[in-house]
Amino acid sequence: MSIIFSGVQPTGNLHLGNYLGAIRNWVAMQNRAAVDAKLLFCVVDQHAITVPQDPKQLRQSILEVTAAYIACGIDPKRSVIFNQSTVPGHAQLNWVLACHAPLGWLNRMTQFKEKSGKHKDQAVLGLYAYPVLMAADILLYRATHVPVGEDQKQHLELARDLAGAYNRHYGVEFFPLPEPIILGQAARIMSLRDGSKKMSKSDESDYSRINLTDDADIIALKIQKAKTDPLPLPGTAEELANRPEAENLLGIYAALADQDIKAVVAQFAGQQFSGFKKQLTELAVAQLSPITQTMRRLLADPQYLHGVLRDGSDAANHIAQPNLVNIYDTVGFWRA
Ligand code: TYM
Repeated sequence: MSIIFSGVQPTGNLHLGNYLGAIRNWVAMQNRAAVDAKLLFCVVDQHAITVPQDPKQLRQSILEVTAAYIACGIDPKRSVIFNQSTVPGHAQLNWVLACHAPLGWLNRMTQFKEKSGKHKDQAVLGLYAYPVLMAADILLYRATHVPVGEDQKQHLELARDLAGAYNRHYGVEFFPLPEPIILGQAARIMSLRDGSKKMSKSDESDYSRINLTDDADIIALKIQKAKTDPLPLPGTAEELANRPEAENLLGIYAALADQDIKAVVAQFAGQQFSGFKKQLTELAVAQLSPITQTMRRLLADPQYLHGVLRDGSDAANHIAQPNLVNIYDTVGFWRA
């Protein structure tokens, strides 16, 4: 039986990278999942506090991400939608895994190096230990498949290593090795301001990303201002090498249109960016405006969203609890 798990941090607006790199694939997996498959989509609020958050804003962001999941097509009747902090098992398993995580493995994590910046001594323990909590998120449900964008690949490898380390240490085959599902071109959507940087919630410039809450005028403006190079669009996909901005914009078009990048390159071969950008805008607005509108409607009804999270939390705890009991017994903790 497949158990699919993934999550997004409630740290500001979700953007096109989150949608194309992750959430859209969750929806596809949900819609073709076998009846006995379990799907869990988590709002990972405990991860969010690895960098400072305003509590009021964090609470609102949890609702916004919940609304975004549903607006993108995650159906709370078929998938479990919940926020991490309401399932104590995440933090409990985190500790067990932390006691099996050699520092050498954590020292290799590139995201910590990037996020902690120059002042490593000032970085908090939670940021350093982040990948262990992420492994706990996945392993708590004994997930088999984890659909994510490419930036999460190294964390997924650590989750597999920790699953293996636990199984070997206790001589059990309890955790399956979770399979990362990282799909195609859209697995790495880049900033609209710099084709060498990934599109990110934390980029200072809002023009670097298209948010799921942006209206048509803002999307048009951001695409119009997106960085390009002086050449016309290339005739072949091979000519995209060393043209990161062209590659990114054509890749976004291909992902939104659900077409192969080669077909999109052929369609716009030799054209100027200005005409292509108009068509990209039309496509982006057509795809995103129903999501934006649904999100607005859902956010106007917080009671409904609270209900979804409450039901999701019950369902997630129900799956997690027996797994945690098994883990505590395996480790040797006494229980009444
Ligand atoms: P987060 O919140 O940074 O991003 C959520 C998802 O969006 C993907 N993503 C992108 N994909 C393509 N292009 C981009 N520019 C882009 N930016 C983000 C991410 O790869 C991710 O799939 N650590 C995770 C959250 C997490 C998690 C988990 C995920 C915590 N526990 C367990 C899976 C399983 C994170 O920070 O994602």
